Amino acid sequence: MAVTIAVTNQKGGVGKTTSAINIAYYLAKEGRRVLLVDLDPQGNASSGLGIDKDNLDATTGEVLLQTTELAVAVKATDYKGLSILPTTSHLANVEAELANVQNKFTRLKTALQSVDGYDVIIIDCPPSLSLLTINGLIAAKFVILPVQAEFYALEGLGQLLETMKLVRKGMNTGLELLGVLPTMMDSRTTLSNQVHQEIVKHFGDKVFQTAIPRNIRLAEAPSHGVPVGAYDRWSKGARAYKAVAKEIEQRLEAKR
Ligand SMILES: Nc1ncnc2c1ncn2[C@@H]1O[C@H](COP(=O)(O)OP(=O)(O)O)[C@@H](O)[C@H]1O
Ligand SMILES: [Mg+2]
Repeated sequence: MAVTIAVTNQKGGVGKTTSAINIAYYLAKEGRRVLLVDLDPQGNASSGLGIDKDNLDATTGEVLLQTTELAVAVKATDYKGLSILPTTSHLANVEAELANVQNKFTRLKTALQSVDGYDVIIIDCPPSLSLLTINGLIAAKFVILPVQAEFYALEGLGQLLETMKLVRKGMNTGLELLGVLPTMMDSRTTLSNQVHQEIVKHFGDKVFQTAIPRNIRLAEAPSHGVPVGAYDRWSKGARAYKAVAKEIEQRLEAKR
């Protein structure tokens, strides 16, 4: 069975989608069969992988509404071993609709249980502690928490950890924090380094050894619809995500 990892933080702009895309890409490059689930109505993971959102038969929304099979909605990408369950802004309406259905918290879990053929499933969560995010946390075994190395980085995390605790008490007792990923580090600035220290003080060895630097290539790649590894594989950003993917492999191996 696939191991499922939710990339989550209710703050926007902290590097969730960038991390989800590039971790998925490098895990696939290492030979894993990877499914990236776009669970954010903004659909940035879909466009970041070059998906033409105007030409989709089905999306995450229909899968959650159970009007289509997951396998029908999944798209192959240009990268060997990497598929995506794409999303459009329609998912925002679906979320409102889901509020009134049965099993609204376990729709994603149920859908993901029905597929095989993947080693890893990465869920790119929206920037909120919404019904969609709860679906992500209930479907996942692990959480990766990207934290932007800037002022206020730790603010709001208490709420997320509290939500994880509730999910653990209720519908997903096995949910685990796999790692905390400092993003957009600028190691030349005192602030970035101070925040990094704060993150380590708070999360200890849950923090990945690799921190993701602020790197223009990471910001440029999505506008070309490609992972950074396909855009500029020698860039600092690409090398950092490759290293993080390796750490993830090691942590998963250690937990097996
Ligand atoms: N390490 C980085 N260096 C530079 N820009 C980044 C980096 N990580 C993300 N970005 C850019 O910052 C913005 C927010 O990142 P994104 O991954 O979309 O965050 P989230 O999914 O948490 O909202 C995007 O424009 C993205 O291209
Ligand atoms: Mg995002």
